[in-house]
Amino acid sequence: MKSVQKIMPDMRHFEPLPDMDDRQFQQWNALLESRTGSTLPLERKTFLVTNLGMRMREIGCRSYDEYFSMLEGMEGLREWNILVDRITVHETRFFRHPMSLDLVKEYVDSKPHDVDTGKISMQVWSVACSTGEEAYSLAMVVDQAFKKRGDESYFGVTATDISPASLNTGRKGIYSERRIKEMDASLRKEYFTPLSQGEYEINEYLRKRICFARMNVLDIDKEPVGKMDIIYCQNLLIYFERSSRHDIVKNMARHLLPGGLLILGSGELLNLDCPELEKINNLRVLAYRRVKEPNKDQN
Ligand SMILES: C[S@@+](CC[C@H](N)C(=O)[O-])C[C@H]1O[C@@H](n2cnc3c(N)ncnc32)[C@H](O)[C@@H]1O
Repeated sequence: MKSVQKIMPDMRHFEPLPDMDDRQFQQWNALLESRTGSTLPLERKTFLVTNLGMRMREIGCRSYDEYFSMLEGMEGLREWNILVDRITVHETRFFRHPMSLDLVKEYVDSKPHDVDTGKISMQVWSVACSTGEEAYSLAMVVDQAFKKRGDESYFGVTATDISPASLNTGRKGIYSERRIKEMDASLRKEYFTPLSQGEYEINEYLRKRICFARMNVLDIDKEPVGKMDIIYCQNLLIYFERSSRHDIVKNMARHLLPGGLLILGSGELLNLDCPELEKINNLRVLAYRRVKEPNKDQN
C-alpha cells in the first residue's frame, strides 16, 4: 500500500499576533502618511492590524517592530511594494460614477479639431486607478463618443496608482463575470472577449490605448506627465488630510491643458482656492475647468 504523506500546516500561521499598542499604531500610521499621504483613524486600527498580520504570517515575522524595521532603507522597498497593496483600499468598479463619466462624454463631444492636423486628440489621466476598471471605463466612454462623432481621432489614457499589484491586474485586463455583469451589454460585447472559467478579457483595441504606470500622488509635481485634457481622480483624496488634498489638486491643475477638466469624487474637496481652476456648476459632479490663460500656459 502506498504511504500517504500528511502535510501538516505550519501552526505559526494560525497563532494570534500580539496586540498593537498605541505607540506602534502611531508609528505605523506615520509611516503610512509619509509614504502614501493617507492616514488611518483609530477606528481603522483593525484594518491595519488584520492586513499587516496577514503579511507578517506569510513571511513568518511575529513582531510589529521587527517587521517595521524590515521596511526601512533601500532593502525594505521590495517588501514595502508588497505591503502597500495590503494596507491601502482598492475598492473600485466599472462605471462607478456615471454622472462624472457623462461630463467626460460632454467634453469629448465639444472638443474642437486641432487647427493644424484637422484631427482630434485627447489625453485622459486616471489618478489612483486601482485595478484598472476606472481607466477602462474612461477609455470606453471616450471611444464611444469619438465613434459617434465619426471624426478621425486619437486618445490615450494614463492610469497610475501607488500599488504595483493593482497595476498588474489592470495591465492584464482580465475581470470576472461578476465585475462586468452590471455593464451595458453592448459595451461588454464590443470591448470584452470571454475566456474560460467565467472570466473576460478587455480587447487589445482598448488595452493598447491605456498606459499603466506606478506613481505616488505625493510626487505628482515631479513626474514628467504631459498636458492632459481630463484628469479623473476619485476616491483617493478622501484618505488625505484637508491641506494635503488642496496641495495635490493644485499640482494636478498644472498638468491640465487650458480648458481641460479635473473631475474629483463628490464631497472630496471643499473651498478650493486655486486661481487656475474654476468650479463647474453641476450639483452632482465635483469638477473644475482649467482657466484659459494663454500667456501662462505656454510653459
Ligand atoms: C479606493 S481606490 C479608488 C479607485 C478608483 N479611483 C475608483 O474611484 O474606483 C484608491 C486607490 O488609491 C491608491 N492610492 C493610495 N494612496 C496613493 C498614493 N499616495 N498615490 C497613488 N495612489 C494611491 C490605492 O492604491 C488605491 O488603488
